[in-house]
Amino acid sequence: MKPFLISLLICLASCQSWTKNKNNELDSKALASIASFDLDEEIKNCEAQLNRVVPKLKDLTKHPRLIETNETEWKEISNGRLVWTSGFYPGILWYMYDLTKDPKWKNEAIKRTEVFEDFKTINEHHDIGFMMFPAYGNGFILGNKKEYKDILLTSAKSLASRYDPNVGTIRSWSNKMHPRWQQHITIIDNMLNLELLFWASKNGGDQRYYDIAVKHAETTMANHFRPDYTSWHVIEYDTLSGDVLNRHTKQGYADDSRWSRGQAWGVYGYSMVYRETGDKKFLDFVVKLADRYLELLPEDYVPYWDFDVPNKEMEERDASAAAIVASGLLELSTLVQDKNKQKQYYDAAIRMLESLSSDKYSGVGKADSFLLHSTGAKSLGHEIDVALIYADYYYIEALDRLKKMGTYN
Ligand code: GLY
Repeated sequence: MKPFLISLLICLASCQSWTKNKNNELDSKALASIASFDLDEEIKNCEAQLNRVVPKLKDLTKHPRLIETNETEWKEISNGRLVWTSGFYPGILWYMYDLTKDPKWKNEAIKRTEVFEDFKTINEHHDIGFMMFPAYGNGFILGNKKEYKDILLTSAKSLASRYDPNVGTIRSWSNKMHPRWQQHITIIDNMLNLELLFWASKNGGDQRYYDIAVKHAETTMANHFRPDYTSWHVIEYDTLSGDVLNRHTKQGYADDSRWSRGQAWGVYGYSMVYRETGDKKFLDFVVKLADRYLELLPEDYVPYWDFDVPNKEMEERDASAAAIVASGLLELSTLVQDKNKQKQYYDAAIRMLESLSSDKYSGVGKADSFLLHSTGAKSLGHEIDVALIYADYYYIEALDRLKKMGTYN
């Protein structure tokens, strides 16, 4: 029997209750269903999906972004400079290459990555990190494409140019595109873009990139979170004094509600910041974020699109948030020292993956995506209960992390 199955069965025997207990450990029914998660099978499922999808996606100037509700095929949109999702499809291909070592995935990943080298100069928004790191970063790290280094370093320079020392954060959005806010806007999503800066500072880039990433994480930690360790989506800062002017949302249900994917970016982002800095204050903080997130989850561990939307049972889920957190928690389970916490986060991540791979959320046999039932921006009236390319990206990243953790084979 596989070691991870044994440990789960041991735990199963020691768990008494059906619901999560006060330590947020998994209930016995949940554990029984975890034992049915088969990583190798799921990797095969994802590869079969990609084998069918790749021949359909011929236009290199576009990338798959979403599959509308009840449709089966990806809607492709242009790899535009303003399109934050451009890098996720190449990123998925890099992970499939890493999981299988089949050169056909590497060739496909290279083809889909190298079409947007020009985006390295994007300085009109923060999403350059989301765009370039899954594509070029994964190519460098997983595909040994060392020639991507300069592209990544230029990308980091572009991102760092948005840092404002008066505020202590990177300016996420341009005011022109988001006229509700007049001054310096930082969103919780921005945490993910810091990985590009950390990478660059270790790979020949300016050491200032490290300092900027750390300062951004510190300022965000101080201002972006409520006393219950949940985050607002958008903060507007005074450009001169750096004071917080207001705290709002764009994609959440309400300014004061807890937008699920925002919470996911926080859990993933601060796990990564601790991995990169080793600064214990970030570990202590992300443990609080993760514990709060887990407390808020419904039984199947896939959140509704906002934790505070009324009449939740009538509302859509956001599988993308679950995939992001599953990947983040796998990492966090390797960073915390406490054995119980390691196990708690590992088990919770597996529970999320098991749920996402179940018939309820899987795209297998129904559509061209790995996952269904994500919600991009319900408050803006679009991407409601759809498949989203970034849900698939963080899902396959989680599979890759799990495989590398070696708890599985
Ligand atoms: N970073 C954009 C989003 O989470 O929708």
